Amino acid sequence: MWHAYARGVDITGANARPEGGRDCHACGGTSGSPLISVRNLTRTYQMGDVQVRALRGVSLDVMSGDFISLTGPSGSGKSTFMNLLGCLDHPTSGVYLLNGRDVAHFSREQLARVRNQEIGFVFQGFHLLPRTSALENVELPLLYAAGVSGRERRARAAAALESVGLGTLLRHHPNQLSGGQQQRVAIARALVNNPILLLADEPTGNLDSRTSIEVIEIFQHLNTERGITILLVTHEPDIAEYARRLVSFRDGRVCVDRPIVNQRSAHSDLAVMPVEVEPELAAV
Ligand SMILES: Nc1ncnc2c1ncn2[C@@H]1O[C@H](COP(=O)(O)OP(=O)(O)OP(=O)(O)O)[C@@H](O)[C@H]1O
Ligand SMILES: [Mg+2]
Repeated sequence: MWHAYARGVDITGANARPEGGRDCHACGGTSGSPLISVRNLTRTYQMGDVQVRALRGVSLDVMSGDFISLTGPSGSGKSTFMNLLGCLDHPTSGVYLLNGRDVAHFSREQLARVRNQEIGFVFQGFHLLPRTSALENVELPLLYAAGVSGRERRARAAAALESVGLGTLLRHHPNQLSGGQQQRVAIARALVNNPILLLADEPTGNLDSRTSIEVIEIFQHLNTERGITILLVTHEPDIAEYARRLVSFRDGRVCVDRPIVNQRSAHSDLAVMPVEVEPELAAV
């Protein structure tokens, strides 16, 4: 299990919560100006002669410390929106302020720095390098960070893996790990630069029920204990209820934006969930 979090393992010793953030339990975030503010964001893909209007004017504020489930039918624009928030793509029109900065006008180098230092990404398909150990996979983002020695890189990557419960599997390659363990490696890689924002696009899409909730437990811990702001795309209504706020897209627009009144606790749900044991292991 990953209860290293409970022991307070921190990857850098730095506090991920931006300065000036103050808890606001009523709104599920913190007071002050939003971490993310988008206005009338559009993204149109040109496919030959056809224009695909993936986002048709999204306006949303996300406060620091928020935890949002982003839901909606396939094709409604969720991944397009996440790619824009993650500075992986440019909007066709509209405004995107990240921590008050208009990132639409950033240079490629500035965007790369924001992606590397402020944002962590987790995807459904893990996206790990196959013939590389868990430790080396997690070290990767630090290769692009200036002034981090090899020794510090390894120490921070090991701490990140320890913090998601994989401290004993540092040398394992992805094909020697279960799906849940691979996703934890991906989360450790997303955390190693101590981001303020975690973007997770269907991170539990390839995982069974219990493993999904174990991954969500990590996210809830990161949100409540380290103040990391999280946007989680999911198709599963049950999983959506572990966030503080629900945003739904339809046809490239926000159609629902409401607080989740009874936020579920992954830790409590896991405690009463039976652990399925493989038959051959049970027989031993
Ligand atoms: N690179 C692209 N080029 C052209 N069209 C695209 C591209 N990416 C997405 N689209 C189109 O934009 C629309 C929104 O796609 P998007 O991937 O954002 O939806 P989604 O809500 O993430 O769906 P899913 O739940 O299936 O992942 C769809 O019509 C899709 O076909
Ligand atoms: Mg998608």
